Amino acid sequence: MTTWNLTGSERLVLLCNGDTCSERGADAVTLELRRALRAAGLDPRVHTARTRCLGRCDDGCTVTVQPDQVWYRNVTPEVARAIVASHLLDGVPVRSHVSFRPGEHGLVQESGTRPGVDKPVG
Ligand code: FES
Repeated sequence: MTTWNLTGSERLVLLCNGDTCSERGADAVTLELRRALRAAGLDPRVHTARTRCLGRCDDGCTVTVQPDQVWYRNVTPEVARAIVASHLLDGVPVRSHVSFRPGEHGLVQESGTRPGVDKPVG
């Protein structure tokens, strides 16, 4: 286990490595996104973490960028490179793979994204 010094971090990228996303190549996505971050010199400003299931298996590989509240679907290594180059470097999300983005009253679902089931109340 490693304890990183997070001073100066601006964003957190959560990379789902749950069962479904792993079957769809999450390890390759994780490695490529981290490689692209290092190559772009963003490593000190963007922290990454592998997670278990993020609850959007149909979207796998699932990646979310915080605190931007942008969720990505169908992420491949190529898309991971685009997320680094466009979103993390220039602040412009990769629209074609956004599943949810922030809206006035919480997250807004992008068209083409499967709705999923409601969360239980209480
Ligand atoms: S396994 Fe990745 S969202 Fe469920």
